[in-house]
This record gives sequence, structure tokens and C-alpha cells, in this order.
Amino acid sequence: MLPRKMTANPESRARAPSEVVGDADAVVLDRVAKSFRGPTGVKTVVHDLSLSIHRGEFFSLLGPSGCGKTTTLRMIAGLERVDSGRIFLGGEDATDLPAHARNVNTVFQNYALFPHLSVFDNVAYGLRRQHVQKDELRRRVVEVLALVHMDAFAMHRPQQLSGGQQQRIALARAVVTRPTVLLLDEPLAALDLKLRESMQEELKRLQRELKLTFIFVTHDQAEAFAMSDRVAVMEGGNLVQVGSPEELYLRPATRFVTTFVGRANFIPASLVEGAATSRPDDIASRQLSEAADASVTSGAEPSIFVRPERLWLRVGVSSDSIQGPRVRGTVVDKTFSGGLTMVRVRVRDDVELSVTCDSASSEAKDASVGGVAFVTWQPSDATLLDR
Ligand SMILES: Nc1ncnc2c1ncn2[C@@H]1O[C@H](COP(=O)(O)OP(=O)(O)OP(=O)(O)O)[C@@H](O)[C@H]1O
Ligand SMILES: [Mg+2]
Repeated sequence: MLPRKMTANPESRARAPSEVVGDADAVVLDRVAKSFRGPTGVKTVVHDLSLSIHRGEFFSLLGPSGCGKTTTLRMIAGLERVDSGRIFLGGEDATDLPAHARNVNTVFQNYALFPHLSVFDNVAYGLRRQHVQKDELRRRVVEVLALVHMDAFAMHRPQQLSGGQQQRIALARAVVTRPTVLLLDEPLAALDLKLRESMQEELKRLQRELKLTFIFVTHDQAEAFAMSDRVAVMEGGNLVQVGSPEELYLRPATRFVTTFVGRANFIPASLVEGAATSRPDDIASRQLSEAADASVTSGAEPSIFVRPERLWLRVGVSSDSIQGPRVRGTVVDKTFSGGLTMVRVRVRDDVELSVTCDSASSEAKDASVGGVAFVTWQPSDATLLDR
């Protein structure tokens, strides 16, 4: 069944979902909302959230603690009822299906293995419930244990395993029944950094090899970026932006996304020299004239956003010799960290910009604390942020 037309969520800045649930969509949320009754009254924790997740996609829900990630995941799994909106799984309306009738498995942070069962029996559990024949069951358990490099531990009990090993068994148990969608709620949070990084690679490989759809919840931007095809950023129960890690990093839609996914520079538009002389179709000119218009109507000072590695430093030159947009300032700090040097330039009493330079470059060598420097950028690397 193909559902009706969907409407975009007017409250979020997320890209509007496709007009209908397409064949390529594994999971579609259509204006899903959820409130909880607490001691201080009813609180809406997920606001009209619309989202399409494609088949075979590694999709992450990213946001700070309490923004509604787990609640969203639990609604997809059927562990929490939606107050309003619809959920489609594989094109079918699954809103009213109980959890066990959805072809969805969940991996939680705390593994939740059965302590009294061996690794083999933990993994076989779901297959036994599906009444899979003995020979096939054995073959599939052995196969999936090999996939997570745990075939030598089939007869161990969970308490004889390390945290990382237990998490691999939890993953094996979740994928062995071949769910269409695997939901992962901060599954690596309890692991130390090194183990976490190797598990990130393993998860990604597992997802690719099994061609499953993964929905991965995390509040760690680096983790989401390392693994995901696309990431949805949530803030206060709202979807703020959906995009590839590159899009979110280089083209963040709001100030929140900008600072949540990396280091950011905000350059007040009024300080920028030079852009007005650019060609009329120049992005910087357009941005600046838009910015000027916006500041007139809103009264707020607009700013231009550029990542530190997209800024360039020019030292010992005049303003006129630099083409394109630029800001004049004073070098206030220079930090060497191996191949890269971070230079901080104060362009106004209350504004400092961070510029990442190649340590071997002349700009890094010539920049001296207290000296004058210009900061410049490619117009195409800049984004105007409305307030
Ligand atoms: N069963 C419940 N009853 C009442 N309030 C709840 C319930 N479950 C979640 N909440 C509230 O809903 C909000 C969102 O919670 P949720 O667990 O979805 O956040 P999260 O993004 O997963 O956060 P974290 O990163 O800390 O896990 C929180 O304010 C939380 O207190
Ligand atoms: Mg959570």
C-alpha cells in the first residue's frame, strides 16, 4: 500500500521528505509526535517529526542529551506508541503494529544478553522463536559469529567476555534474524575509545556486507560522521537538518548545527571588505547584500560562517592586493600542533577567528602574535547565517 501525500514539517528546517513513501524507503516517519506526562505536566518530547530513511542506508540520529533520540527510536521499534502521525516500514503502515510484528531489531547500550545462556544460545534465541530448523539454525549462528569475529567463543557465557566482545554478541544476536531495519541506541557508549573506534569500523562493515538499514543513535558527532551515509540533527524534539556529514559540516542550516558538528567562525558581515567590488553574481556579494537587507529588517547583525580550514591568512600585504572578501585583524595566538598550526586573529574586540594553516606554509611562519593579518576565504566556502 502506498500512503497518502505527506506534508513537510513546518517547524523544522529539515529538508521536506519525498512526496510519497518510495520503494527505496525503509522507514518513513510522517509528522510523528510524542508527549509524556511528568510531575510538571505534559511535555512534548518529539514535535511533528518527518523523516525518510532509505533501504541499505547507515542513518544516524544525532543530538544532545534529552533531545528525543531514544524516544524516536522506540517509536520506530513499536516500544512506544505515537500520539499522532504515521510510521511506515518498507512502505507499509506499521503505526498500529505491535513491536514483535515489526521486522525491526534493537541493540541497546547495555547489551542485555541472557547471562545464563551460552554465546551460541544467545545468538540462536531469535531463530528458535522463529522455529528455524536445527541445521539451518546452526549454520546461521556460526556464520554470524564468524562475521563478528567471535566464532571461537560460542560456548562461553556472557560474563566470561569483555565489554567489546559482549557488544559484538549483542550485534550478532540482532542481525542473525535478518531484520529489515536495525536500530542501535548508543551501542558503543560503554566502550573505551580505542575499542569504540574499531567497533565503529566493524559495524560499518557488517552493515555493508549484510546490506541492512541501520538507524544509529548517538550524541557524538565524530562517531555519527565516521559511520553514516546521512545524519539527522535533533534539538529539543525537533529535526533541525538532515544531510550527509559533508553537507552538515560545510552547509549547516543553523547556528546550533554549526557549533554542534565542529569548530566554527562567525564573521560579522559589517567587517567584511572587498566583497562589494566582486562580480554581481558572486556568492559573497549576494550574501552580503542579503545580509544588509536582513539586518535592516531584523535589527540583528548578520554573520558569515566559515570553517577554520577554509580560511586563509595573509600577512605583510595591503588590503587592496587581496582579491575577494577579507577581514583585517591582529594575531593574538599561534598554536603549533604538528602538521597544522592554528592561528587566532582578533578582528573586533568581541570577535576572534580561528584559521588552520599548514605548518610548513609561509603564512604560518610569517604570522606573529601582535602583528596585523588579513583573513580571507573563497566565497563558495562561506554561508550566510540568518539569526
Ligand atoms: N517514559 C517517559 N516518561 C516521561 N518522560 C520521558 C520518558 N521517556 C523520555 N522522557 C523524556 O523525554 C525527553 C527525551 O528523552 P530521550 O530519552 O528520547 O532523549 P535522548 O535524546 O535519547 O537523550 P540521551 O542522549 O540522554 O539518551 C527527556 O526530557 C526525557 O526526560
Ligand atoms: Mg537516549
